[in-house]
This record gives sequence, C-alpha cells and structure tokens, in this order.
Amino acid sequence: MTARPAAETVGFDPHVFVMFGATGDLARRRLIPAIYRLLESRGFEDRIHLVGVATSRLDDTAYRSLVTESLVEAGWEEEAVARWCFRSISFVSVADGFGDLSRKVSELEHQYDLPGNRAFYLAIPPGVFVDTIEGLASEGLTKSEGWMRLVVEKPFGTDLRSAKKLNEMMYRHFTEDQIFRIDHYLAKETVQNLLAFRFANMLFESSWNRNQIDSVEITVAETLGLEGRSRYFEKAGVVRDMIQNHLMQVLTLVAMEPPVRLEANAIRDEKVKVLKAIYPVTRAAVTRGRYTAGEIDGERVPGYLEEDGVAPDSTTETYASIRIDVDNWRWRGVPFVLRAGKRLPARITQIAVRYKEPPVSLFEVDGTCRVHANVLFITLQPNEGFHLTFDVKRPGEGMELVTQDLEFHYADAFGPLPGAYETLIADLLAGDQTLFVRGDEAEEAWRILEPALDLPTQPLEYPAGTWGPEGSIRRPPRP
Ligand code: BG6
Repeated sequence: MTARPAAETVGFDPHVFVMFGATGDLARRRLIPAIYRLLESRGFEDRIHLVGVATSRLDDTAYRSLVTESLVEAGWEEEAVARWCFRSISFVSVADGFGDLSRKVSELEHQYDLPGNRAFYLAIPPGVFVDTIEGLASEGLTKSEGWMRLVVEKPFGTDLRSAKKLNEMMYRHFTEDQIFRIDHYLAKETVQNLLAFRFANMLFESSWNRNQIDSVEITVAETLGLEGRSRYFEKAGVVRDMIQNHLMQVLTLVAMEPPVRLEANAIRDEKVKVLKAIYPVTRAAVTRGRYTAGEIDGERVPGYLEEDGVAPDSTTETYASIRIDVDNWRWRGVPFVLRAGKRLPARITQIAVRYKEPPVSLFEVDGTCRVHANVLFITLQPNEGFHLTFDVKRPGEGMELVTQDLEFHYADAFGPLPGAYETLIADLLAGDQTLFVRGDEAEEAWRILEPALDLPTQPLEYPAGTWGPEGSIRRPPRP
C-alpha cells in the first residue's frame, strides 16, 4: 500500500521463525525461497533463526541439505546457500510431541540473546491446525516476553461453522492482532494497487457506483487441472478453493468505501462492511461446471472424472460462476459476477468493470450504429495492467463508432513485480496485518457462500480448453 514502506526496507526484529510443514511443497517451493530472497536483499543480517518442523525424523544436517537443494534448484549459488543454512537453520521433529521444539526455541533464544519474538508458520493441512496450536500451548511456546505471531494458510475452515470453531480455538491462545491469515492474492501488487487506483484517482472514484456502472465481473481462469491435489480438491471444489477467499477478497477491494486511514484495521473494517451488505447467494445465482477431456495449449488432457483420486460419482465443481449483489447505497442493483475455473483456455485473472450505456443513443441510425459501453479491464495477472475502452468516430463520411483502448502495463513502467510470499513474509515480520485476512472477514465470506457449497447435483460439463459450461457467462477475459 502506498503508506507502507517497501518490503526491502522494513526492519526485522531478531526472532525465531518456526515453520511447520518444513519438508512440504509450500515450504520448499515458496516460503524458503521468499525468506532467502528477503535476507539477500538486506545483505544477510542474521535476524531470522529458522526452525523447520515436521513429523519426519530428520536431523539438522539432512534438513539443511534439503533446503540447499531447493534453493539451488531455484537458481541460487550452492556455497552461499549452504553457509546460510549452517548459520541459521535447524530442524526439530514433532513425531513424539512438542517438548523438543520447546527446548530448541529456548536454546536459540538463550544462545543468541533473543528477546523472545516468535513466529509460528503453519504450512500444514488445516486438519492438523488444532493439534498443532494445542501442542504449542501445552509446552508454553505461546507465552513469551517478545512478540508472538501465528500464520495460517487457507482454507480457514470448510464452512461457516468450522471457520467459527477454528477462530474460537485460535483465540484461546492468540489474539486477533497475533493471527496472520494468508490469502496470497492480497499480496499481488496489482491487487494492492486497487486501493491506489481507486482512492488516488478522482476520475474513477467519482463514477464508481450504481449510477454509472452496469456490472462487475471478476474472473480467475486457470489452465491447470488438479496437479496431484485430488485428495484436497475433491472435498474443496472451486467455490471453497478460489471463490471463498481469492475472489471474495478482490470483490471487497473493488466494492469497499474509502478507509479513514491506510492502516490494517481501517481497511479491513471497510472490507467487512461490504461483506455484511451481501445476502447469502441463492442457488439460482450459482452455475457449476466440471471439465471433460479436451485440449489445452495443443495438448490432450483428461477429464476431471478420469483424474487420479477422483470418485466416479464425484459432484465436485471445477468451475463456478456466482452472481452476488452488494446491497448498499453504492452498489444496489449492480451484479458482481465471480467466476473461477480450472482447465480453461488461458491463465488470466481480470476484473471487468462495465459502465452503463448513455441514456440516449444519438448515433443509432436504422439500428446500425451502436454505442459500446465503456469497460475498464483490470488485469491482475499475467501481463498486469489496465485497458479502458472508449468509442471514437471512424474518420470519413457518416458516423461510425469504433471502440479503442487506453492501456497501461506494469512491465512497461516498472519491470518485473515482486513475489507475493516475499511481501507477505516481510509484512508478517514487520507486524503489518493489512494484507492478511481478519477472522470476521473469513466468516462473512463463508456465510455468503454457504448455499453454494456441496450441492448434490452434477455440475454442467465443459470440455477442457473452453470458457466454461453453456449457460454460464462464457465471455472470455480481455487478453
Ligand atoms: C491456490 C489454489 O490458493 O491458488 C490453487 O489452492 C490455485 O488451486 C492457486 O491454482 C492459484 O494461484 P495463482 O497465484 O497461480 O493465481
């Protein structure tokens, strides 16, 4: 956000960073590289004492080799990486409980004279959150003189009831200002830029309402299928996996009122107000789809039901579009359509803000000259940027209108954008919760989507490589 300092300049207090799920994919592919990149950008001031935690029985040396391997694979130089691992990383197995972890944390705090700052990052399946948090508390790890931060990855529960239970359980040992719920979409530069775009530019903000806007579509299209995650995805489906979190978060940033300050709780208060203005969706507002075999980028791909680990009678959706009405002064009557799908023809995340047509069409002659309403396309990834369409008169005789674009792309102005996890970890270590989801936000999003969960009917089919089932909005996003 504009008032926040850049990630590279935020100072870290010396602390112990306990990473659960340390041998898993998320830790190795995203978290450790992000931490390493952050430290690299600060010249390796050694302030992070990383303790990898898992149930496997590794020792420090074996774990350091694993980390070195991941970082070398990601393109770093082996010697420097191995030096860092030796200095800053240790490993503890929790196969036999949390006693060893507690001893390790105390030992590090004593050895390096640390003030007791502790971050616990749960890069583990939600099914083991409760035992992990209880385990930490039972060994007194959640009490110390320094700051305490708990990081949880989505999904935050699987429905409203479980989200509430999870929050209540976390509040037994942590306060809300110690809990950092990750939604990596919030850390994408272009998602953060929605606030700058809206509240630093009078031009758009003054038309950002039901008087001028006809509809808003938020699309997250992916070419990927299951990527070996059928066990998780079969239970989740795209509504839980994408819409409840990533798309609802983008919706709140598009629809919120200006916050009183650019500060975590002021922003999150406004986001929650948007969610509170939305009734639970009706079944009629939901279109669900499931991909059948098809072609993506010239390659044949199997249908969802043929994927490994998918039940033959599965009713899980791989595509959903949901109409949402934000029932407040600014938005009443303006449909927000959220749609997300796997195995669509292109990977693109885009918001399309469609303006109304002029009240009188001056240019229509015999039904041939149509005005095209303005559309603002905000592409969140890839090729991040904006297109604003507007009509001009084609030169020559008569009055023919053609649509042209004003456009801006981040890469042209700023080069490559930083990774989401780097931003999130820097903010976590600085104690800035702006880009993290508050407990009430997660609960409100579940409340709204509950009627769209676990529908017993079979989803409509769409061939992989097409824009979703017939009957849904099949308008492709703007490239
Ligand atoms: C994750 C979902 O949260 O987001 C995945 O679990 C999805 O299913 C991913 O593929 C998409 O993230 P991104 O950053 O690639 O758009």
